Amino acid sequence: MRLYAYPGDEAQADAVAAALGVKRGRITWHRFPDGETLARVEDEPASECWIVCTLADPDPKVLPLLLAATALRDQGARRVGLLSPYLAYLRQDKRFHPGEPVSARIFGALLGRYFDALVTVDPHLHRLQGLHEVFPHASACLHATSLLADWIRANVAQPLLVGPDGESAQWVSEVATQVDAPWICMSKRRAGDRDVRVELPEGLPAPDRRPVLVDDIISSGHTLAGAARLLRAAGFAAPACAAVHGLFAPGAREALREAGIAPVAVTDSVPQPESVMPLARLLADGLRRLGG
Ligand code: R5P
Repeated sequence: MRLYAYPGDEAQADAVAAALGVKRGRITWHRFPDGETLARVEDEPASECWIVCTLADPDPKVLPLLLAATALRDQGARRVGLLSPYLAYLRQDKRFHPGEPVSARIFGALLGRYFDALVTVDPHLHRLQGLHEVFPHASACLHATSLLADWIRANVAQPLLVGPDGESAQWVSEVATQVDAPWICMSKRRAGDRDVRVELPEGLPAPDRRPVLVDDIISSGHTLAGAARLLRAAGFAAPACAAVHGLFAPGAREALREAGIAPVAVTDSVPQPESVMPLARLLADGLRRLGG
């Protein structure tokens, strides 16, 4: 097995390669002055190759990624896998409005034409039962819940885990069991990218524990900011936050800061200053499981 890195994912690829005791190969990603990319495999690929490419900001990455997968196959790789710690385009998993595409299915099918296997972490599977519904080959969904639980245990005394919406219940309940802490979930209605209405649940516990917001994705930050404002208005201390994928769209950090959320901890599925939970060992386990 050999790992290759998309530009920006070299550190993750090195860490996973070290955990597996395998080599990292070399692809040169040449960017032409007009913006096109040429991906050139610089070594003789192993029979099984994996490209490490996290898919935050996916649009500029996808075509170069597909070119690289094809180049590896053309050079003799028998099996080409994608290790994508953050997998994009899963939130549009149904046609919410007439005229829209179901992006999750289109994206999964596209990846399935170029990759034989897919490993990712906590993909946003809400209405989908599993990745097999969108990706036609072998896949593994790894879970970062134990990393979130370890971080909370080490950093927050007497936590109350709070999911900002119904979808987060799957992560919050699991992390709460591991931390042995109580949890609640809010409900959410999104009216626009940065227009999110969150509501507290009924029967709120006494505000004597430190809230920790737990979610899968921080994108605009407005979901968590709205949740934090409600908690503070209900008399709770300023919340901490532990999330899996820190995308941090423009303005997100400011929104979190203004809402008084601190500290904010995320995994390194997308490398960020807040990435304090490394995934390499989990990713290596996923590759061991799915490796041919
Ligand atoms: C929603 O379905 C996800 O679980 C997250 O709550 C959401 O993606 C966060 O988005 P934002 O940071 O833009 O509010």
